[in-house]
Amino acid sequence: MLCIERHYSLKPFNTFGLDIFADYYTEINQVEDLTTLRRMDVFRHEKRVFIGGGSNVLFLNDFFEGLVIRIVTKGIQIVKEDENDVIVEVASGENWADFVTEMVRRGYGGLENLSLIPGSVGAAPIQNIGAYGAEIKDCFQLLQAIDLKTGSHVFFDAVTSDFGYRTSFFKTLGFGRFVITSVQFKLSKHPKIKPDYGSLKQELDQLGIQHPGISDVSEAVCRIRQSKLPDYTQLGNAGSFFKNPIIHRLLYEDLVREFPDIVAYRDGSETMKVSAGWLIEKAGWKGKRIGNVGMHDKQALILVNYGNATGTELYNYAMQVQYDIKKMFGVLLEPEVNIIH
Ligand code: EPU
Repeated sequence: MLCIERHYSLKPFNTFGLDIFADYYTEINQVEDLTTLRRMDVFRHEKRVFIGGGSNVLFLNDFFEGLVIRIVTKGIQIVKEDENDVIVEVASGENWADFVTEMVRRGYGGLENLSLIPGSVGAAPIQNIGAYGAEIKDCFQLLQAIDLKTGSHVFFDAVTSDFGYRTSFFKTLGFGRFVITSVQFKLSKHPKIKPDYGSLKQELDQLGIQHPGISDVSEAVCRIRQSKLPDYTQLGNAGSFFKNPIIHRLLYEDLVREFPDIVAYRDGSETMKVSAGWLIEKAGWKGKRIGNVGMHDKQALILVNYGNATGTELYNYAMQVQYDIKKMFGVLLEPEVNIIH
């Protein structure tokens, strides 16, 4: 039964821990609920937003004048299996980190570098989540979605999902039109380990592991995350607030002359991806607190709520950081987090 709540607290459903309310709120427990919801007046007439784990959203206002829809569908099933690979289908409402733990436990490789990322499975492809040398697109097989305009079930493969760095079709041209209901991953029973990301390699070395398996990688990733990234249940945050900016080679060459220690990686033949964390730290924002908000003192890319912050306070702080970085380096930092008005 689909239940529409009024004036509903979203505090447990946004990892910034903002004390905010939605005018209307509902939870989707089964895919069929979406068909019912689509026909309802509240869906057709109100402004609406879908959330999963609430780990990549910043609500600007204390009161969202519209309908918040939280997807909580559950289920993990094997669709196909042979001696080498397994195709696993997961419902959108499953918790991402729990799902990865379960795959590692079963010995299915491919997702271990993405351990402990907060959020839901259905939200993961939208921004092509990535960490420690892997992205969701590497193991992605297919996803099912509902076209909110027509009500029909549609499928997207890796090509039509158009994945990019922290983006996909669902964040760009398809924005607002589709709701992802399940995702399929192709995982390997003889996985190729990806241990080469700088801090991951270091952690594995420190643990004395020379030939890591998927559970070693998963454990090392968890250790790094726990040491560097704040736990949102203790300190509200939404992971990296900004994307690492991609800049032209010529601008990069100018910057290296002025800042020889700048951290950047080649991205294309003419472009470089610069560490936003480095830019923010260099500009003096790492660990700098203004009122209830600040950039984290161990990872400058993470905007944190020290308690009782409002969405506007967080946003205004982020805009000051953005302004300073533009002024100092000529580089525009774009939010990775979805800003909800
Ligand atoms: N750095 C600094 N100062 C900082 C942070 C980073 O100088 O405060 C420099 C260091 O040189 C460091 C390098 O940047 O070695 C890379 O740092 P890190 O490995 O922490 O990665 P990141 O580029 O800052 C990205 C993702 C994270 C992901 C990590 C690990 C983005 C926007 N962020 O951060 O993802 O966990 O790599 O792979 O791409 C997220 O998306 O929410 C997120 C946390």
